[in-house]
Amino acid sequence: DRVVAIVPAAGLGKRFGEEKNKPFYSLFGKPLIIWSLQALQAVEEITEIVPVLKENDLIMCGDLVEQYNITKVKRIVPGGKERQDSVYNGIKTVDDKTSVVLIHDGARPLIESDIVRKSLKELKDCDGVVVGVPVKDTIKEVHGSSLMAHGKEEVIVKNTLNRNVLWAIQTPQVFFFEKIRDAYVKAAADRYYATDDAALIEQYGGKIKIIMGSYRNIKITTPEDIDIAEALLKGG
Ligand code: CTP
Ligand code: MG
Repeated sequence: DRVVAIVPAAGLGKRFGEEKNKPFYSLFGKPLIIWSLQALQAVEEITEIVPVLKENDLIMCGDLVEQYNITKVKRIVPGGKERQDSVYNGIKTVDDKTSVVLIHDGARPLIESDIVRKSLKELKDCDGVVVGVPVKDTIKEVHGSSLMAHGKEEVIVKNTLNRNVLWAIQTPQVFFFEKIRDAYVKAAADRYYATDDAALIEQYGGKIKIIMGSYRNIKITTPEDIDIAEALLKGG
């Protein structure tokens, strides 16, 4: 059974500071993306890893893959405009004999191999498995886009969601290859964009299971997230 892991890392890193080049930024002395690649390399079930990077980062990534001996990487694929475009570029290169595709953000370096293994094991009686944690904060829906929050617009609350039924979703996300490929093809045709991979399966019909992840599996988004990740690593 072939299990291919796709690692999107082709974002601009605007909130991190574009000039700092997030995928290669040092976390405890090791480039950020290498943490994810090593965690996936260590999972026996995974047969191949496909990192997706910006055009200008392809060569650097190739050099690091060699230096850190990530032998499951056979090719590195250029990304696209949105995360979904980047993942789709990866999916397009996946061999037909593949049975399962796992997608994990290059920006989540603290993923543990055991959670990756668990997500693969749980892919049965459903169409996809995502890792998540119950939300700790109360989540409010507002009028207008949250992307405006940094501007001068005021943010007015529409509604408060019931926290007891809310989960914060992370990666990895695991799917049967044909199912996720079909969803990506349809989404491209419909120009339907979502913020995670499972949402495409939900859109076109399918059952998604959430398994308990870890609050340590943070996404590196802003510079202070590096300090948080290093503190978590120090704590052991
Ligand atoms: N990603 C990608 N291709 C894109 C956009 C995002 O592969 N066109 C990847 C990022 O590299 C990251 C993950 O998707 O690993 C989650 O994206 P995010 O945390 O938003 O990172 P960036 O898009 O790089 O950051 P920003 O939104 O601040 O520019
Ligand atoms: Mg982004």
